Amino acid sequence: MKLNLGCGPVQPEGWVNVDHSYRARLATTLPRLDRALVRARVLSETEFRPGLAAVNLEKTLPWATDSVDAIYGGEMLEHFTEANATALLRECVRVLRPGGVLRMRVPDNATFWGNYLREYEAMRARPRSEWTDDHARWTRMFFDDICVKPRVGFFGHFHKWMFDEVSLCVAFERVGLVDVSRRAYLDSRIPDIAGVEVRDDLIVEGVKPR
Ligand SMILES: C[S@@+](CC[C@H](N)C(=O)[O-])C[C@H]1O[C@@H](n2cnc3c(N)ncnc32)[C@H](O)[C@@H]1O
Repeated sequence: MKLNLGCGPVQPEGWVNVDHSYRARLATTLPRLDRALVRARVLSETEFRPGLAAVNLEKTLPWATDSVDAIYGGEMLEHFTEANATALLRECVRVLRPGGVLRMRVPDNATFWGNYLREYEAMRARPRSEWTDDHARWTRMFFDDICVKPRVGFFGHFHKWMFDEVSLCVAFERVGLVDVSRRAYLDSRIPDIAGVEVRDDLIVEGVKPR
């Protein structure tokens, strides 16, 4: 069994696709109501397929200890506070079988603020009369978009924590994973990774000790 946590629209065959957005819950628990609301043009067609597991990943995972071969999370761990992210990683380790693989892809905090710093330094190097606050677009993006809960009820962009390569590797090791390292896009111990890994970013993988 392989889990695809926080799947969003990425729901390949052969994976247990897990999401807990309002729409994922409506589409899985009340599919006839969902269909009726689509027909009445209240909602657009759902992206969530039948069979999706509407599990809240902030709670204890509903899978048995040592029962899962691989777990993937694409752009979801940043939607958790640091404490809740650690709790989820711990739960992932519990449900993984010995030798099972955990792989997470997240936005890279170091890249994000590196972009800010590069533009800031370039602006600062200009003659004083040419200064603008264009470089502050990164700060605006962070406070006005990335960290803001959307008014419509879905998880959207609402990030609660940011990882970098060092902090994510340390977080993996803290919960007991071994052979932890940053990995390249699609370079994985998980054979059919291409089904769930739809883009590159900061990707870290580790293994539950045997
Ligand atoms: C940015 S989307 C990522 C979609 C997809 N995995 C990808 O790689 O593009 C983040 C997903 O995580 C889900 N999510 C956030 N918090 C969650 C939670 N506590 N339990 C389950 N799913 C959650 C959201 O509903 C959303 O679909």
